[in-house]
Amino acid sequence: MIFYHDIEKDDLEKIRQTYVRHGCQHTYQHVCQVAEVAIELAKKYELNIEKCIIASLLHDISVMMTQDQMYAFAKKHNWTIDLSEEKYHFLLHQRLSRVIAQKEFCILDEDILSAIECHTTLKKNASDYDKVVFIADKIAWDQKSKPLYDELIDNALDDSLDYACYQFIKYQFDHHGLLMPHHWLKEAYQELKEKYE
Ligand SMILES: [Fe+2]
Ligand SMILES: [Fe+2]
Repeated sequence: MIFYHDIEKDDLEKIRQTYVRHGCQHTYQHVCQVAEVAIELAKKYELNIEKCIIASLLHDISVMMTQDQMYAFAKKHNWTIDLSEEKYHFLLHQRLSRVIAQKEFCILDEDILSAIECHTTLKKNASDYDKVVFIADKIAWDQKSKPLYDELIDNALDDSLDYACYQFIKYQFDHHGLLMPHHWLKEAYQELKEKYE
């Protein structure tokens, strides 16, 4: 496990064990890679490193639930369900990860919870923490499977986090990389377009 600054070893171990217990070692490797990228971004943009690490490690923790369980939870709690979530239940996983982070890991920090909650879709008025986890999740790949947009985002990051988010979302829309855009993503894109177009 990578060394994580001031975060308690026991807390990190609890997160690791949760993924392992549910047979999700692969996802655990992924969230560790996201954390590594997020650390670099936190340094680059002078954000709290620990918040970025915790949000990264927990962003996909709902992998322990099935898609049916996610949907049932959302229904039971009367969540407003986006059309895209209605059609593709796994899109709910970002919101479920927030719930688990809060309930099972006692995370109360809104920067962390929000970054977990919108890591797939971003949202309008996103914080820098939201943007770091959103971007880190997209560029944290092993060397073999580096996506085509990687260089695009890398270059954009030299400009700003906002510009990187804009470039990534634009890439998704331009290349039809979305199953069905969530309204949070559309709103985030609209906001960024007003800045860059
Ligand atoms: Fe995810
Ligand atoms: Fe992820």
